[in-house]
Amino acid sequence: MTQATLPTLARKDFPDGFLFGAATAAYQVEGHKFGGAGPCHWDSFAATPGNVLRAEDGAVACDQYHRYGEDMDLLRAGNFDAYRFSTSWARVIPEGRGAVNRAGLDYYDRLVDAILERGLEPHVTLYHWELPSALSDLGGWTNPSIARWFGDFVEVIDDRIGDRVATYATINEPWCVSYLSHMLGHHAPGLRNIRAAARSMHYVLKAHAEAIARLRAHGRENLGIVLNFEHTQPASDSPADVAAAARQDATHNRWFIEAIAKGRYPKEALEGLEPHLPHDWQEDLKAISRPIDWLGVNYYTRNLVAHDTESPWPSTAPAQGHLATTQMGWEICPEGLEALLLRLKENYVGDLPLMVTENGMAWDDHVRNGVVDDPERCAFIRDHMAAMHRAIQQGVNLKGFFYWSLLDNYEWAFGYERRFGMVHVDFETLKRTPKASYHMLKELLKRT
Ligand code: NOJ
Repeated sequence: MTQATLPTLARKDFPDGFLFGAATAAYQVEGHKFGGAGPCHWDSFAATPGNVLRAEDGAVACDQYHRYGEDMDLLRAGNFDAYRFSTSWARVIPEGRGAVNRAGLDYYDRLVDAILERGLEPHVTLYHWELPSALSDLGGWTNPSIARWFGDFVEVIDDRIGDRVATYATINEPWCVSYLSHMLGHHAPGLRNIRAAARSMHYVLKAHAEAIARLRAHGRENLGIVLNFEHTQPASDSPADVAAAARQDATHNRWFIEAIAKGRYPKEALEGLEPHLPHDWQEDLKAISRPIDWLGVNYYTRNLVAHDTESPWPSTAPAQGHLATTQMGWEICPEGLEALLLRLKENYVGDLPLMVTENGMAWDDHVRNGVVDDPERCAFIRDHMAAMHRAIQQGVNLKGFFYWSLLDNYEWAFGYERRFGMVHVDFETLKRTPKASYHMLKELLKRT
């Protein structure tokens, strides 16, 4: 190992029982064409010109559907404790409602057993974005019935694997499910419509609440949700930029946590969204704010925000900062993770257990002479580990960290071009090659 790929902190520097894992999501790794999955809205979004780089989709992805044993071996050999994966609604209930695809459920049953057999913990995310097309046809996340449909799906999953799951997260990144996909149009279904955005921002939380209620009725514990946060800062000290950053912070960072932790939506977001919400939205906040057992935090970058005089509410535009960036163009800002964890503790969740459910970076990695040298990613991981460590020292009840991602995979609108994995995947041969960052983590996580 070179200096650049040596770990600094190690397992022993974190509290006893702190979990180290890696994360993936169904559509990004499984191979959606295998095993009888039904069509999902990402299939049609990708098949529509202009949405996804080279119009790539998740049909084959990393073929984890067949190669999960090899992938779990990699986690075990890397000294990890846990695997975070998601269950595909379209795989298990191809039409979204009604008939169950047995092969789909059997797959998750085998996967959970494969995780446990290797001494790892299965951490399940119930929805990570592949909405069945039949539900998308009915309005998907803008249809008030989505909460009931989702609850039914959750029960089907829980009946089969719930006895062996370590934690459940209901929804991955509700901001992406709603705002990014219905207001900004960057993800499926690709709408740019404020009414659809506002409704989906509310109904995704109703679906979360419904899932929690159904799982509680099954006697389940360790229930949470995974939210994505950015470290939002104004592009300048001007009052206009400061106000723009506050609107961005309200719609992106505060909307979901404030509803769950405090039973309200932030006023800076309601200013623009309230006219488009369903008339009875306030009645749902009681259920939405029922207690959860842990909170998942996905953190990648800071976001500098400027006032955009040209566009309607929220009248914000991203500004370019001076920090080094990843292959995504995202600024690298570990201090933002520390600040976020402290903010969550102080303003929202107190001592509720937190887990960093995603953190990682994309880089243009290549296999050379059989190895992948990724010193940039090693540094990224080290610096974010140090940020988590500082937060723990300051009293944050952080219980775990999942690197995104175990594998290079389908990076949504960017297809297979952006590589987040600690394990390289050759998308021609599907060969896995652990990168230097994997070896660094293996060293860091070894039990002495
Ligand atoms: C968040 C999402 O949960 C995941 O699906 C995505 O690949 C990563 N961020 C990286 O963009």
